[in-house]
Amino acid sequence: MMIAFLGPPGAGKGTQAKLLASELHVPHLSTGDMLRAAVKARTPLGVEVEGFMTAGKLVPDRLVLGLLRERLRAPDTAGGCLLDGYPRNVAQAEALREFLPLDRVLYFDLPEQELLPRLTERRSCPTCGTIYNLRSHPPKHAGHCDRDGAELIHRPDDRLEAVRTRLQVYQGETAPVLEYYRAKGLLRTIPAGGSVEEVRAAIRRALA
Ligand code: AP5
Repeated sequence: MMIAFLGPPGAGKGTQAKLLASELHVPHLSTGDMLRAAVKARTPLGVEVEGFMTAGKLVPDRLVLGLLRERLRAPDTAGGCLLDGYPRNVAQAEALREFLPLDRVLYFDLPEQELLPRLTERRSCPTCGTIYNLRSHPPKHAGHCDRDGAELIHRPDDRLEAVRTRLQVYQGETAPVLEYYRAKGLLRTIPAGGSVEEVRAAIRRALA
């Protein structure tokens, strides 16, 4: 099954994608994670995209599409995959249709006032990718990952100014993608304001 998660920054897509991918035994393809890995490794792509990401703007379509196409060539995606963070605009959705038809698109619905604390209080493990929140899901030992002890990071694009830009970009460029998939009958809305377990249960119902 080919599934995509859509929704505003901080709605919980990454948290749920990790859980669902492990449950369905399919790869979790997060374009944000792939781009952050390129930035960290200082690859030519990483150097090119870093400024866009830190400012909270979208990376140019051709760069993200190239990265995703390359990843989808790997044999582990043949049986299905979970896209998280792609498509981000209608042009990306059109490009995707050419080479990866989706079976279901889940929209994480959360009001803006609930997104802000999720983003500004988020901390992530740079080694294993585990996502924490200082309020709703703090690490057992402050500042360190429960799994591997690595020092947690605060994403540069989770600063308030970049968060504001990301929310504007979402409204202007990504929200129209919801209509695109609704018109195709693929979109299901997930109320994303409950606990992680409640959201997980809503996802299971939407995919049943
Ligand atoms: P990306 O990494 O995709 O970021 P995003 O879409 O903005 O989403 P986030 O990762 O911020 O949030 P999330 O919904 O995954 O929430 P999370 O689970 O972490 O993109 C980053 C950047 O990369 C973009 O700005 C752009 O520059 C570039 N990019 C990526 N893809 C691109 C593309 N296709 N085209 C162009 N550019 C692209 O949860 C957030 C917080 O809430 C956490 O602290 C978590 O613990 C907490 N939380 C989660 N669920 C709950 C819950 N149920 N209750 C309480 N707290 C919860």
